Amino acid sequence: MSAAEPVDLTVADLHPALGDPALTSMNFLNEVSERYPAAVSLAAGRPYEEFFDLAAVHRHLDTFHRHLVDDLGHPPEQARRLLLQYGRTKGIVHHLIARNLAVDEQITVDPEDVVVTVGCQEAMFLVLRALRAGPADVLLAVAPTYVGLTGAARLVDLPVWPVAGGSAGVDLADLSAQVRRARVAGLRPRACYLMPDFANPSGASIDTAHRQRLLDLAAQEDLLLLEDNPYGLFHGDDGPRPPTLKALDTGRRVVYLGSFAKTVLPGARVGYVVADQRVAGPGGRVGPLADQLAMIKSMVTVNTSPIAQAVIGGRLLEHGCSLVAANTRERSAYTRNLRHLVAGLTRRFPDQPDRPAVRWTVPAGGFFVVVTVPFPVDDALLDRSGRDYGVLWTPMAHFYDDTAPVRALRLSVSAVTPEQIDVGLDRLAALVTDELTRRAG
Ligand SMILES: Cc1ncc(COP(=O)(O)O)c(C=O)c1O
Repeated sequence: MSAAEPVDLTVADLHPALGDPALTSMNFLNEVSERYPAAVSLAAGRPYEEFFDLAAVHRHLDTFHRHLVDDLGHPPEQARRLLLQYGRTKGIVHHLIARNLAVDEQITVDPEDVVVTVGCQEAMFLVLRALRAGPADVLLAVAPTYVGLTGAARLVDLPVWPVAGGSAGVDLADLSAQVRRARVAGLRPRACYLMPDFANPSGASIDTAHRQRLLDLAAQEDLLLLEDNPYGLFHGDDGPRPPTLKALDTGRRVVYLGSFAKTVLPGARVGYVVADQRVAGPGGRVGPLADQLAMIKSMVTVNTSPIAQAVIGGRLLEHGCSLVAANTRERSAYTRNLRHLVAGLTRRFPDQPDRPAVRWTVPAGGFFVVVTVPFPVDDALLDRSGRDYGVLWTPMAHFYDDTAPVRALRLSVSAVTPEQIDVGLDRLAALVTDELTRRAG
């Protein structure tokens, strides 16, 4: 469209979130991938698609259908309706999700406190929409922050205040300070969003003692915690996983956000939220926060596709409701890739006296490693990396809610082979050398 062509609307007349970097970020990163399809992508946080199996999708659907008839006693006509008709707003696999959380995470939940959502993304949106009651409300979030959370907050006009992550995964002194600062300013911090396990993008995890201290602080400050846990199952080989915040939560402080995108199939678009907080309504009626979220959901997506839920349900049933059991192959591939990436970085970026250091994180699991380099990393550099070097990654600036330059990039190991990691790292090393030479010259 030429600049002179008449327009019907301008972005300035639409919701202010449109045009905000938090919303345009994902599209930009997807566009770069499309622009350089031949590049090795260490950018995508997608699961490894060679494991996808179309035939298994049909089988899972059948398995769940049989479960409805054989285990739950639904007459065939009703089972057919449950799968193909409009359905229960809170979902039809809530009982299996509750079982999965008990089996894998030792989290005890009433299935009525679960809302099955269109991906974890919808779960975040529902929770933020519910918590944003008025202009004094703010959300705290450990920085760097998953951009999908920041974008969802923008859409409900909820400001996001960063909290330092620090070496422990969340800096409790800073969390206290931000709560106090907000209250002094007459604002109401509603919750703190964080990922205690292998966070996206930082890769950081919080140890058990610190999780307990965080829960104590949340109780002291009367703050909810939004625990997002898409990567927790993909731990490395270093001992057992720490318990989730929700498993340690005795005071209903934690709203737990789940996703089946990495553990089953992203294309199913199924996630969920556990919201067991008691909400007092008019006339003294008390019910779970899940019911309020369902009310919002009924006006956003009506209900999550029962066909998609059935695929997830079937996969759960086939593995005794354990996603740990269902993901042994995936976990070992991601662990191998993570180890390969870290070893590859060590080989390619040794400390050299005449050269500024390149540093990286060594996460205990998950998909992501953050590499810190001696120069600012921006979208222009990413574009040059794709075009001239054939390797893609994610500028860490996308995960900070300001415009300050950031000297770091995120690498993901989830959608590549070890061979592609080698090629990608060779190309990244060439880019870094070139950039250092340019800057020195
Ligand atoms: C931290 C985090 N939360 C939520 C999501 C979104 O999950 P879903 O695909 O289930 O909407 C992602 C996806 O990458 C993620 O990394």
